[in-house]
Amino acid sequence: MKLTSRARFSTVCLHAGQEPDPTTGAIITPIYQTSTYVQEALGRHKGYEYARTQNPTRMALEGNLAAIEGGKAAFAFASGMAAIGAIATLLQSGDHVVVSDNTYGGTFRLFDKVLQRYQLSFSYVDTSRLDEVERAFTSATKMLFVETPTNPVMRLTDLGAAADLAHRHGVRLVVDNTFASPALQRPIEFGADIVTHSTTKYLNGHSDSVGGVVVAVRDDDIEWLKFVQNAEGAILSPFDSWLVLRGTKTLPLRMLQHSANGLALAQFLCGHAKVKHVYYPGLPSHPQHELAKRQMRGFGGMLAFDLGSLEAARRVLNGVKLHALAESLGGVETLISHPATMTHASVPADRRQEIGITDGLVRISAGIEDIEDLKEDLAQALDAV
Ligand SMILES: Cc1ncc(COP(=O)(O)O)c(C=O)c1O
Repeated sequence: MKLTSRARFSTVCLHAGQEPDPTTGAIITPIYQTSTYVQEALGRHKGYEYARTQNPTRMALEGNLAAIEGGKAAFAFASGMAAIGAIATLLQSGDHVVVSDNTYGGTFRLFDKVLQRYQLSFSYVDTSRLDEVERAFTSATKMLFVETPTNPVMRLTDLGAAADLAHRHGVRLVVDNTFASPALQRPIEFGADIVTHSTTKYLNGHSDSVGGVVVAVRDDDIEWLKFVQNAEGAILSPFDSWLVLRGTKTLPLRMLQHSANGLALAQFLCGHAKVKHVYYPGLPSHPQHELAKRQMRGFGGMLAFDLGSLEAARRVLNGVKLHALAESLGGVETLISHPATMTHASVPADRRQEIGITDGLVRISAGIEDIEDLKEDLAQALDAV
């Protein structure tokens, strides 16, 4: 099952990192549920000593994800936050990081409440405005941490320009690619040094696993991340690795349907009298639609819309039947949520207002159901507003 260097994206998703099991020929990489490996003699073994350090299921997934993102190596962690925590260990006390201002609330919490205690400092900037990013750089800046599109107001950062700017200042560009997935956007092609994901979302895609990954290209980063993954030990379990490996086989197909449903729902909401504003990069009215067309291969399943008040949002969130009211995103089933009180509750209220997360904002992660069923469900919930 050797992949040629010409292998196209969906072929890479299906096969990269995986060989038929050497013992039985099983086409699917087994779940190696073991904590240790028997050695043939003192100092002689098959390359596996202890399962925190090496596990064949996890290593198959890591090979798969490195290839899918176009990186050199990948490291799988117990959650998306554990992956971001591992990236932060590339920093040293006194270092400064510039971060997208409406980054995921949990990322903000990690930076603001935990990492600041270790003499790291963070500036939150609208990274869609690279002049502001450049102004925020100091001589201590070592990392530019970008989410694009952002959660939940779908603001984009120009990845190529951000990479050029970061590298001119000797700064690493780290991209959290969870929202787009590599099927729609591959930041390393634009010059990113590190890509991270909550694999909990589109990469696994079936709402049945929590995990994270870091994909790197620089040899010094790879060496350190491999060391830290083992030293801190926040590894992805064999079963979760197997689930994500199964998920990536259908990633290109799922993303086509997520994107088609995302666009159709955005268009439906745009034309609805009760909706004040729709945030979706696939709409020509999105201020960065042209950039989205340039750096994304589809606009994804994430959208948000503003109903103008908490009461209106509550009626819709409580009125939907098929849309599941839940945190998270990127699964095959459609989820609906209220960022101000759910995903972004840990962001202070004044900062939420600044970045457009109003009390009337509702976020949808469009699944792969029949679009007519989704539209009907939203329409009946909007009738109650
Ligand atoms: C963009 C983004 N990054 C990182 C995370 C953290 O991932 P996890 O929940 O797997 O720790 C999330 C979770 O929602 C997310 O949306």
